[in-house]
Amino acid sequence: MKSHGFFITLEGIDGTGKSTQLRRLVRHLRKQGYTVRATREPGGTPVGEKVRAILMGEKEELSALAELALFYAARAPHVEKVIRPALARGELVVSDRFNDCSFVYQGYARGLGSRTVRLLDRAICGPTQPDLTLVLDLDPRVALERALGRDSGSGTSRFEAAGIEFQRRARAGYLALARREPHRVWVIDAGRSAKEVEADIGRVVDEVLGASRQLSVVSRQFSVRRS
Ligand code: TMP
Repeated sequence: MKSHGFFITLEGIDGTGKSTQLRRLVRHLRKQGYTVRATREPGGTPVGEKVRAILMGEKEELSALAELALFYAARAPHVEKVIRPALARGELVVSDRFNDCSFVYQGYARGLGSRTVRLLDRAICGPTQPDLTLVLDLDPRVALERALGRDSGSGTSRFEAAGIEFQRRARAGYLALARREPHRVWVIDAGRSAKEVEADIGRVVDEVLGASRQLSVVSRQFSVRRS
C-alpha cells in the first residue's frame, strides 16, 4: 500500500536522550500545524506494550532469534493498526525506534545477520518503511552512564545491562546504516545540550519535510496533512 503521510523514526543506542527529543520534536511539529501520531517500539498497541513488558522484564537470557521474533510480533499490530492507517490519513508518524533497531541490535550487535531480519521485515513491514531516520549518536560510555543513572531506582533493563561492548557494536551498526543510506538516515550528535540537539533535529526535519512537500507539487506522491 502506498501511503501519503510521512514516517519519521528516532534511533540510537540506549541513553542518548531519544525519548526527550521525540517529545520535543512532536511539540515542534504540532506547533507548525501538522497532525502528528507519536508512538514507540517495542509498544505502540496494547499487545505491543505487553510484549514490551515481557522483553524488558525477562531475566532469562533469550537468543537473538527469540528476541527478534518478539520484536516483530509487537511490530506487526503496530504497523497494521497504527502506522499504516495514520499514514493513509496523510498524518505524520513519529516513532521512538522501529525496524532499524532490529537490524542493528539483533542483526548486527547480536550477530544474527541481516538476512533473517530482512525476511521478517519484508513480511511484516513490507513497504511501510521510515522516510526519515534520525540517529542520536553518542559515545557509549556517556550513553551508558546516562541510561544507568536514569534507571537507578528500578534496576537496569536487560538491554542496558548488556554492557558497553554491546552498545559499541550497536553504535557502529547505526553509523554503518547511515553510510549505506545517507538520504534517509541522518546522524545527530547527541553529546551536546538537549536544547542544541533539539534545534538540530528541528532543522533537519523542517528541511526534509520542506523538500518533500516541494517534490509533492511535482509528483503528487506526498501530502502531509496540516490541521
Ligand atoms: P527503549 O525504551 O530505549 O526504546 O528500550 C527498548 C530496548 O529494546 C532498547 O535497548 C533497544 C531494544 N530493541 C531491540 O533490541 N530491537 C528492536 O527491534 C527494538 C524496537 C528495541
